[in-house]
Amino acid sequence: MHPLLDHFGRPLRNLRLSVTDRCNLRCSYCMPEADYVWLPKSDVLTFEEIDRLVSVFTALGVDKVRLTGGEPLLRADLPELIALLAQRPLRDLAMTTNGVLLTQHAAALRSAGLHRLTVSLDTLDPATFALLTRRDDHARVLAGIEAARAAGFGELKLDTVVIAGVNDHELVPLVEFGARIGAEVRFIEYMDVGGATRWRLDRVVSRQQMLQRLAQHFGPIRELPRTDAAPAERFALPDGGTFGIIASVTQPFCATCDRARLTADGMWFLCLYAERGTDLRRLLRAGASDADLAGALAAAWRQRQERGAEVRAGLRERTPLAAADRLRQQPHLEMHTRGG
Ligand code: GTP
Ligand code: 5AD
Ligand code: SF4
Repeated sequence: MHPLLDHFGRPLRNLRLSVTDRCNLRCSYCMPEADYVWLPKSDVLTFEEIDRLVSVFTALGVDKVRLTGGEPLLRADLPELIALLAQRPLRDLAMTTNGVLLTQHAAALRSAGLHRLTVSLDTLDPATFALLTRRDDHARVLAGIEAARAAGFGELKLDTVVIAGVNDHELVPLVEFGARIGAEVRFIEYMDVGGATRWRLDRVVSRQQMLQRLAQHFGPIRELPRTDAAPAERFALPDGGTFGIIASVTQPFCATCDRARLTADGMWFLCLYAERGTDLRRLLRAGASDADLAGALAAAWRQRQERGAEVRAGLRERTPLAAADRLRQQPHLEMHTRGG
């Protein structure tokens, strides 16, 4: 089969699948507002609808699926969806979670066939966690990470969004924590995505600053070769430990971006920053055949010219992507709706 390529020759391989827009935390870099407009329940795709779309996506070349939210573990009976998707021909079936509910669910996720887990962990300090997320759940997250390991999730990753003045003094302890529990920490530059209404350029800690601070403590850091189109660069410390950096602000990876995002209500976006998407729910519920769906997906992908993070990086003046009142009118622009 000829791979399906977009306008810039990028294949479609990676689908980020949001299963709910709801979240049980209120991280300041993603959901800082007092209230939100949620997707109507009746619009949310059923597991059967999601599985059907995934089967069409895999026929077009997708072989990596990552479940996201909001917080995906707020979706009832999630292991049932995982069991369906685990039967599809996927090289990788992963999930990104905030970890709060992992103690209850880790074992069921594993036995349903989930391959890999990434847990968001921005701080090791309960007080900073409470400030950052407006919830008091730090101990639950740590217990969740432990439960994930106990359930047999070997290749565990920890995602840390680094914000100047909030958690940037914790780079070293976080790397050490990761090494201690056998998980790889990835530091993420604070991005100006939809939802990050408090974003400011002077709050971004750049890849270069992170590397400098870590080298100061650990000694010379070596860059490791990239394995695929994943956003993280990987690095090795003199003691053999590794960590990653996702430098979407200062060094975007759009040139090799092979990912698209499906919201819980079936809107398909070709870029994290895309203004418009394709309404797959409407097609599904109007009785489209698999061939109709595949045709619509392929036509949209062939025209894809999005490279949102690069465009943002080229702006002379950088402000948040959208203000709160615009997000209330267009909740699909929110990071928590299109999957973190
Ligand atoms: P693997 O490499 O397969 O482990 O997954 P991943 O790194 O794509 O998944 P993860 O959910 O851990 O993503 C990490 C972070 O990278 C996200 O939370 C975002 O901050 C950022 N990110 C994810 N997808 C995109 C994207 O499409 N574009 C950009 N610019 N940043 C992204
Ligand atoms: N900048 C960078 N990453 C973000 N995420 C959400 N908002 C942002 C942002 N403004 C990512 C984080 C979080 C995941 C759910 O989404 O990695 O852990
Ligand atoms: Fe891909 Fe858009 Fe993210 Fe660039 S900004 S890496 S094109 S999703």
